[in-house]
Amino acid sequence: MEAVTAAWERYAAGRTPRRAVNAAGATTWLNWTQYADHGPDESLLGPLRGRRVLELGSGSGCNLAHLATLGAKCVGIDIAPSQRAKAEARWGNVPDLTFRTAEAAEFLTDHPDSFDVVLSIFGPVWFTAPTALLPLVRQSLSAGGVFAFSHTPPKAGPQPGGSLREARAVSRWDYSADEWADLLASSGFSNVTADIIAPPEGEEEGTLLVRAEA
Ligand SMILES: C[S@@+](CC[C@H](N)C(=O)[O-])C[C@H]1O[C@@H](n2cnc3c(N)ncnc32)[C@H](O)[C@@H]1O
Repeated sequence: MEAVTAAWERYAAGRTPRRAVNAAGATTWLNWTQYADHGPDESLLGPLRGRRVLELGSGSGCNLAHLATLGAKCVGIDIAPSQRAKAEARWGNVPDLTFRTAEAAEFLTDHPDSFDVVLSIFGPVWFTAPTALLPLVRQSLSAGGVFAFSHTPPKAGPQPGGSLREARAVSRWDYSADEWADLLASSGFSNVTADIIAPPEGEEEGTLLVRAEA
C-alpha cells in the first residue's frame, strides 16, 4: 500500500489546480469527464440537499465542494495526504464538507450504512478490484442510495504497455459498460445504467459513466 500511496502522491504533485471559474462563470461545478466544461452535471445523483455524500478519490475536492454548496453533507476521502491538504486549503470554508486521508476499501469497511450517495470520478473504483470494492460500496449506502462513477472506456484490442502495468504500483480495472452492469448486478445493485458520454468535437475518447442504486 505504501507504493500505491507514493504513486498517487507523485500524481498529485504533477496536477495543475482547477480554474477558479468555468466557462459558464460558476465558481463550483461537477465534471464527470476528462474534458473541461463537458458532460452531464450532478443531477443524475438525485436530490442532494441534506443527503450524506461520499466521494472516493476526491483529489483536490473541486467536484465535492460543488455538492456541498448544493446542501449535501459531504465527505471526501483520498489515499494521498497531499490531496487532503490541497482540498482543505481551497475548500476549508465550505460548510458540511470534510476531507480525510484514507484508502477506499478500508474506509468503506469502517462505514456501513453511512451514505445516501457514493461517487467516484476517475477514482478508486477504477483502481480497486471490483469484487472487493463493490460489496463495500453497497453496504455503505442506505437502501435506494445512489452509486455513480466515471472513467475512460476500455480501448479495443491489446493495450500498449499492458503487461508493464502489472509491474507498476497502480492497477486499473478497465471494464466495458456491459461488464460493469454485470458486476454491479452481482454485487446486489439495481437500476444500473452504463453509458458512454460522447467526447467534445475534435476529441476521440468518450467517458464511461455508470450509475446504480443500492
Ligand atoms: C485520477 S485522480 C482523480 C481525482 C478526482 N476525482 C478528480 O476527478 O480530479 C484519482 C484519485 O484517486 C485517489 N485514489 C486512488 N486510489 C485510491 C484508493 N484506493 N483509495 C483512496 N483514494 C485513491 C488518488 O490519490 C487520486 O487523487
